[in-house]
Amino acid sequence: MSLTGRSLVSINDLTTAELAAILDAADRMAAAVGFDDPATRIPARPLDRIMASLFFEPSTRTRLSFESAMLRLGGQVLGFADPGVSSVKKGESLADTIRMASGYADIIVMRHPQAGAARVAADYASVPVINAGDGPHQHPTQTLTDLFCIRREKGTLAGLKIGLCGDLKYGRTVHSLAPTMARFGSECVCISPRELAMPAEVLDEVEAISGSRPAEVETLDEALGELDLLYMTRVQRERFDDEAAFQRVAGCFVLTADIMARAPEGMIVLHPLPRVDEIATEVDADPRALYFRQAAGGVPVRMALIALLLGMDRECAAKGSFRFGTEPAAPCGAEATQAEPPCAATERTIEGKRCANPRCVTQTEAYLEPLMCGPDDAPRCAYCEEKME
Ligand code: NCD
Repeated sequence: MSLTGRSLVSINDLTTAELAAILDAADRMAAAVGFDDPATRIPARPLDRIMASLFFEPSTRTRLSFESAMLRLGGQVLGFADPGVSSVKKGESLADTIRMASGYADIIVMRHPQAGAARVAADYASVPVINAGDGPHQHPTQTLTDLFCIRREKGTLAGLKIGLCGDLKYGRTVHSLAPTMARFGSECVCISPRELAMPAEVLDEVEAISGSRPAEVETLDEALGELDLLYMTRVQRERFDDEAAFQRVAGCFVLTADIMARAPEGMIVLHPLPRVDEIATEVDADPRALYFRQAAGGVPVRMALIALLLGMDRECAAKGSFRFGTEPAAPCGAEATQAEPPCAATERTIEGKRCANPRCVTQTEAYLEPLMCGPDDAPRCAYCEEKME
């Protein structure tokens, strides 16, 4: 197994062993940067690598933690946080923008509003590409951050019962997290109004991995009593077609101190953030509310990922900046029995078929050939992974 030179488009690009290896490396990075005790931080030495940070969509945590991670590794960062200042504004294609960035940086981190855009970037880049969120599709580094936090808090990733609550339709973080927790032998319960239900594709994926389909409920109380972890999410206003549809579900769940009083004593609360109104600020003082700590963990996790994809982990160790490969691995849980996600079936074009998903990158990047995967009787778009009509 080597991660050197690879891109990370979907969490399914990583085997379960690779996920565990990244988490182990993140634990070592956490030690190096003094995650638990800033006084123990080991100063970084200069690292002769540049990361391009290309954000075509708003971001606070993901962009800043990626940039912080690269700076903490001793590397350098260039890029933009607003596509309005790039040549995309002049009509440049995504493929061309990425070809350019490949010439200026050793690794590219990209966030984009269209599903499948990260796949396009990885196809056209000559350096590794990390998907920092592609529309409603995937957010693999948020999942790594979530796993890092869960493993440190619960001591395992196996045998947990996880409530995913809120906007499960458009929330890309839960699309990456649910199948991954199934791979580690944990069970998800989907808690959402019907309009924001988890997409069938994701439920199918979890079922294919774990052998059972996640339960779906519409109220928190139906699941609360048995949860080890409650993962709250924001209603993704920017993905709705019209304001009236958003207003019908806005504020559908609000986690309050009252609800926390009825929740199990050991039930931790995570949220990828930003929060709008789905967690009352009174909950922040509850020791089970871990979302700010979760967000901080994004730095060691992204340090580990960048170093591994650049093949610089040994380099960092040789310089004595970071302690790679010295500490024993922490347990993930039932490694031996972990199922791998169904392998992406052979990709192909099918005469006369195009992806109909209005949020798919193939709608605007006209040079892309329609590409299908999955069985002939239920093909999926290879970019956004939605079912074809
Ligand atoms: C999430 C995202 O962008 O998908 N935020 C993040 O990266 N931490 C969640 C959200 O925007 O609601």
